[in-house]
This record gives sequence, structure tokens and C-alpha cells, in this order.
Amino acid sequence: MSSNRDGFSSTFGVLAATLGSAVGLGNIWKFPYLTGSNGGAGFLLVYLLATLLVGLPVMIAEIAIGRAARGDAVSAFERLRPGRGWGMIGVMGLLAALLIMAFYSEVAGWVFAYVAKAAAGGLLSSDPKLLSDAFGALVADPVSALMWQWVVLALVGGILSFGVSRGIEAVTKRLMPILFLLLVLICVRGLTLPGASAGLAFLFSPDFSKITPAVVLVAVGLAFFKLSIGMGTMVTYGSYFRADQNIPMTATRVMLADLTVSMLAGIAIFPAVFAFGFKPEAGPSLVFITIPAVFAGMPGGAFFMVAFFVLTAFAALGAMLSIVEVPVAVIAERFGLKRWQAALISVGVIGAVGSLAALSGSLTADWKLFGLNPFDLFDFVSSNLLLPAGGILIALFVGHSWGRGAWLRELSNDGALANQALAGALFVLVRWVSPVLIALVMLKGLGAF
Ligand code: PFF
Repeated sequence: MSSNRDGFSSTFGVLAATLGSAVGLGNIWKFPYLTGSNGGAGFLLVYLLATLLVGLPVMIAEIAIGRAARGDAVSAFERLRPGRGWGMIGVMGLLAALLIMAFYSEVAGWVFAYVAKAAAGGLLSSDPKLLSDAFGALVADPVSALMWQWVVLALVGGILSFGVSRGIEAVTKRLMPILFLLLVLICVRGLTLPGASAGLAFLFSPDFSKITPAVVLVAVGLAFFKLSIGMGTMVTYGSYFRADQNIPMTATRVMLADLTVSMLAGIAIFPAVFAFGFKPEAGPSLVFITIPAVFAGMPGGAFFMVAFFVLTAFAALGAMLSIVEVPVAVIAERFGLKRWQAALISVGVIGAVGSLAALSGSLTADWKLFGLNPFDLFDFVSSNLLLPAGGILIALFVGHSWGRGAWLRELSNDGALANQALAGALFVLVRWVSPVLIALVMLKGLGAF
């Protein structure tokens, strides 16, 4: 079962692939826009706490489950504790993967469209009205919204069916340091703009009155979304981990690197938001209207802007490959289909549901459930409900079914690592703290008490 399973070939490869899943539009697009619309520094603080107390332990749990079971997101749970229905965690994960891809592929489509726009020499302006109109026109046009989403999905489906995702990951891995450098450059540029300090104050000096239960729920949802956890992605990736890989260490490194990229994106964006007079609470459009303004007055700005959107597109691609890998692995392994067949089915279903999200700026704008259009609904339900609920179940699975002995064995690589104390402490976190904390945040955030 495990001997002929494809796997990551080196320790660095594991780190890079896991990081490739974590780093994506979550850092460049979602983190800044949520920080902007939820009050800034206070939100950031809660997000950091959620990442440490809940995100990291659940991430370690997922990877450990995947590696111990060497199975996909559904069968892993069934293999470790057969016949108890835990496989439903994976089924929920499939639903989360579908909903996330439904809107993520659309945002990736906007990034692709911006590559084209930037390359054609448009967008070089710091006029807030012109930039928000340009973004608004893209979202409101059903044809281009759908077209760009489907370009993205065809690309993801193609890469997965030809089995060249390793090749893409190799490319992405090399490009990510460049994205990192470019973000540093944008930070420098942003920080030297007149009025930049208001942006830093927004990002770093908390106003505690803005931290409401609903804001805390969004921060926890972001922590899950960011680390690609709560839906079986890290179970699936964990199943490709080598037996001698240090799981807690790898997860911690990925978390730190991922946080660094988000912080850079924040420092790149907020000074400019304030310097140019944009609104931090602009919502999903924030990055798309702010970044062009940063580049507008800068030497070589046109070139750097194209580079920025191209690199962001690659980061998005790495994350999307890991999301769609969840259904592809399940479909291929369960039904004995070829990978290309599983990829085709997955992308087809995502395209059908995702169209509703893509059209949320036009045709389906008024299709509201709980006051949310399809785009916002898919985002809310996946990030703030399904992922945290998945996190609770994964923590309960480890803490109350799989058990301490198996956990300690897996985290210490069968005793090869001297990390018993750490693993023991993590077990307490996963068994009691994480599930209770997530449940309280969810109930309170949804207004249950
Ligand atoms: N972590 C990715 C990001 O922040 O862009 C998004 C993501 C990837 C979410 C994989 C969930 C997932 F399973």
C-alpha cells in the first residue's frame, strides 16, 4: 500500500511543496483585505493568536494523520480508525475544496486579467477612481469574468491531468523567492510615500474595540485558510511525507514563512492605501486597486507591475494545485480512475459551481442567501464554517480516537526524534484546547449565545 505510493523525494521538497500550498492568494489578496475591513492591528493580533493556538496544532495533526495512514483525505481517517465514520471529515473536506475553488479560481482569474492589463500598459495610475472603475468593469462583465476563471481552471486541470504538477511546483519554488524580493521592494516604496505612517499605525497599533466575536471568527477562518487546513489538504500532503521527516518542525517552518509573506504583503499595501487615499475597508478589490497605484510613480513601475501579477499568479497556481489534489486523490483512489479522469471531473464540477461565483458581480449579484451573493457565501461557508468545523473534528479524532500513543509515535518518527515533551504538550492542545476554542469562537461568532 505504502511502498508504491508516490512521495516527496527530499526534505527540502517536502517543505517547498507544503509552503507552495500555504502561500497564495491568501497572503496577497485575502489577508490584506480582511485586515483592512476588520479594523487593522486588532484583527492581526487575533489572527496571530489563532495561528499559534489552533492553526499550528491542527496542521501538525493533519500531516501526522496523512503520513501514518498513507491515504487520501477520506481513507486516511478510515484506515487509522476503521468503521467509526471518521471518513466524513474527508467528505466535508471535499465540499470545502469545491467551495474554495469556486471563488479562488475567480480571484486567480482577476490576477491573470491584471497580468494582461498590466502588460498592455494600462493601470499605471494612482487615481483611486480610475483604478476602482477598472476593477469594477472587470468584475461586472460576465464574459470576461467567466472567461478568466475558465482559463485558470483549464490550466489547473491540464497540469493535474498531465501529472506535471511536480514540474510546476519546481518552477513555483524558484519563483517564490523572487515574489518575496518584489514584496520587499514594494514595502520600501510604500514606506517612503508621504503619509505612509498612517498605514503602519493601522497595521500595528490595535484598537481593541474593533475586536468583536464576528471578527474573531473571521480571523480563525483566515488562520485555517492560510495554512490550508481543516479540509484534508495537509492529510493528503502528509501522506506523501517521508518517514524521517520531522513533522512539527516542518509545520512550524511553513507557518513562519507563510506569516512572513503575509506581513510583507500588509506592509506593502497599507502605507500605500493611506498615502493615496484609498479605503482600507474596500473589500476584495483592495489589492487590485492599491498595487497599481504603488507602481504608478516608480521607475520601472510598468515592468515591476507585470512581474508582481505574474508571480502572484504562480503563487495562486501552487495553492490551487493543492486544493484540487484533494478531490483528485479521493476520486482516483476510490473509483480506480486515472488521474486525468479525476482531474477532469473535479475541474468540471468546480467550473459549474464556480460560475455562480464568477458572475457575482453581474448576473448572480442578487442571488442572495443570508444576505450574501454566491462569491461571498462560498467564501464565508468554507473559511468560517467548514474549515473550522473540520479542524474541530480532526482535533477530536486525534485526541479522543487515535490516541496519545499513536500520536507520540508518529510525531517522534517511532522514537527517533527526542521530542516527547513537545509532542505531549501538543497532544494536550489538540485534545482539549483547540476543539473547545474553535467551538466557542464559532458559536459566539455566529451569535449562538
Ligand atoms: N492556503 C492557500 C492561500 O492562503 O492562498 C489557500 C488554500 C490552499 C486553502 C489549500 C485551502 C487549501 F486546502
